Amino acid sequence: MRGTATLQRQRSRVWAVANQKGGVGKTTTVSTLAGELVGRGRRVLMVDLDPHGSLTAWFGRDPDAQGPSVYGLFQVARAGERPDGRRQLIATDIEGLDLMPASTAQATLDRQVAGIEGMGLVLGQALAPLQATHDVILLDCPPMLGVLMVNALAACDRLIIPVQTEFLAIKGLERMLRTLAMIRRSRGEVVDHLIVPTLYDQRTRASRDTLAMLRERWPEALWDDRIPVDTRFRDASRRGLPLSLWQPQSRGAQAYARLADALLETAAGAEADERRAAV
Ligand SMILES: Nc1ncnc2c1ncn2[C@@H]1O[C@H](COP(=O)(O)OP(=O)(O)OP(=O)(O)O)[C@@H](O)[C@H]1O
Ligand SMILES: [Mg+2]
Repeated sequence: MRGTATLQRQRSRVWAVANQKGGVGKTTTVSTLAGELVGRGRRVLMVDLDPHGSLTAWFGRDPDAQGPSVYGLFQVARAGERPDGRRQLIATDIEGLDLMPASTAQATLDRQVAGIEGMGLVLGQALAPLQATHDVILLDCPPMLGVLMVNALAACDRLIIPVQTEFLAIKGLERMLRTLAMIRRSRGEVVDHLIVPTLYDQRTRASRDTLAMLRERWPEALWDDRIPVDTRFRDASRRGLPLSLWQPQSRGAQAYARLADALLETAAGAEADERRAAV
């Protein structure tokens, strides 16, 4: 076991939360998982890639205001300098939880950076100096494929795909998996991904049938549990807190605690494999 300590990963885990379909629980997943992880003593950074800035607003910031933001990273990169994530984040009111806010100006990025080389790697470069200071970095993606999602998929070591358990969800998931295959080709490596059923309501046929279909078609990538419908998520966002910190005993928060267990467990397994391979 010689050298195990030095071989231990210094890098933070970068988890992108994405689905090209809107309203499936991406932002809720980022906020609630972040709260859960901070509650366990992890240092967490949330990155709001969505120009709508729902995550930014959840934590009481205005995406129309000037200040540090994801957009700032791209301005620096376009000026030919190296983007540094440390300059674009703010501390939230919660100890151990930082946020890189969104700016509504991010909506114009696709037009601005079209054709400029290297713009898909801006986020990955900006996160590099944060590897030492944060245990987990969660990326909240916009619901459309563009430069921001491409940056997230290039920078992450794992993709979490929330899928609402209703019929139209399957099309969105198929589209997301096609995008992932494209990214896999350009990265030259497989991006680990986990499909997370959300907004599950046991009483509705749509929820039960969609879950059965997910199990049948993607048994390998599917999380073996689900996030239930819980109206308290909305109340938590109104209060500016992750549900996992505001009401940790609620059904919704408990489900995200189980998701955190699953994510940390597989990450620990991967690290053990990495260490074994390195010894
Ligand atoms: N498990 C849940 N139970 C009940 N409501 C939920 C749940 N998850 C999310 N919601 C609600 O559904 C709405 C959409 O959720 P959220 O904003 O997290 O989705 P999103 O995928 O980030 O949406 P967008 O694509 O617009 O960014 C919000 O009002 C949120 O409070
Ligand atoms: Mg969102």
